[in-house]
Amino acid sequence: MTELDLDKTAAGLRLELVELLTAEGQVTDPAWRAAVGGVPRHEFTPRFYVTSGAPGMTTYVPVTPELVGTEAWLRKVYSDETLITQFDGRDTDWSDPQPIRGASPTSSSTLPSLVVQMLEALDTGDEATVTEYGTGTGYSSALMCHRFGAEKVTSVETDPGVAARARAALERCGYAPRLIVGNGLVGAGRSDQAARTIATMGVRGVPWAWLRETQPGGLIVATLRGWLRSLGLVRLVVEDGRRATGRFLAGSAFMMARQQEAPTNLGMLPGDDDGKVRETPHGPEVLRMPDSGFVAQLAVPNARTFDMPADDGAMRTYVLDTANESFAVLSRDGDGWTVREGGPVSLWGEVEQSLALWHAADSPAATEFEVSVEPDSQRVRLANGEDGPSWRLPAVPSS
Ligand SMILES: C[S@@+](CC[C@H](N)C(=O)[O-])C[C@H]1O[C@@H](n2cnc3c(N)ncnc32)[C@H](O)[C@@H]1O
Repeated sequence: MTELDLDKTAAGLRLELVELLTAEGQVTDPAWRAAVGGVPRHEFTPRFYVTSGAPGMTTYVPVTPELVGTEAWLRKVYSDETLITQFDGRDTDWSDPQPIRGASPTSSSTLPSLVVQMLEALDTGDEATVTEYGTGTGYSSALMCHRFGAEKVTSVETDPGVAARARAALERCGYAPRLIVGNGLVGAGRSDQAARTIATMGVRGVPWAWLRETQPGGLIVATLRGWLRSLGLVRLVVEDGRRATGRFLAGSAFMMARQQEAPTNLGMLPGDDDGKVRETPHGPEVLRMPDSGFVAQLAVPNARTFDMPADDGAMRTYVLDTANESFAVLSRDGDGWTVREGGPVSLWGEVEQSLALWHAADSPAATEFEVSVEPDSQRVRLANGEDGPSWRLPAVPSS
């Protein structure tokens, strides 16, 4: 394919993507449609991995023009898919790319429908100053440069290699936003305040710096998540640099900010005789189902979970909090479940209690909850439920 053909094919595929996102109601604002139609995503994703979709352990397969042909590569680039560009914080050896298993994505170009959903949630006209956390490939930064002008866009990326590639791609497209290499959890170090703040990485709580660097009346759009699962996308209105409140918008799952990833060491696993056994009305499925999983994550913010077969071959679900060495191990018992718990905190008791409160409120969806961020605590509660139950989010260290 000549360069001219490539540009023509890419432009055609971009239009198809815009049509798809429009038909599915993902993009409604003509200015964001123009941005998706105008920004060449392929400049930001010359090579990447996608999930193979094969059953079993998740397998990621490489996609480059050399491996699959230029047209197939472009079709993938202009599909509504997340294109993974890095695993486990290490750059890929692209001289001989192989399928990857058992690794965690650490950088990507997020699927366009989610990017535009977040950009629309910013609720701007054509004039806005924006801080983005999680530059990644630079694609979402480019969409904002297209709409607001590069001089209005600041973007922060923690990984120097990822940031350098994003800068080069943005330059190829003629954009020179302010790009900062550093930990976005401590802010962008801007002296002014942005009208909008957007984060394309997950955070356990809203970093205080983001409030400080957003204008009063401005918006923060970000994904909250824990170590069990994602909580979802939130849109917060910043009141005065000391308080922000807003609702969960919808499910979205972003990779966790690197500085907030769960510690890799699980410590000593509980032995078969450790802890006290009791019956429980809830099996591990409550952790996996969308709305009960949201409530369970709120109940045990420092917990992690995994399944492991016991000596008799029966599957057990472990829930561990390595900070205080509490544990809960769920086992099937006939038609029901038992839990074996130990440590200073009854982890499964916390989950049961939160689920009881949630059931008592008619099992509302995550989008019925709101977040409030204040100097001494960040809490999630039912919208308009000022006097009702609330759950504390972990504090984000500011350095
Ligand atoms: C899902 S990717 C971003 C997608 C990107 N906006 C795009 O359109 O290509 C998340 C990025 O956040 C970055 N990241 C993780 N923790 C960060 C932090 N504390 N500060 C800034 N960037 C961070 C990762 O290195 C990764 O590149």
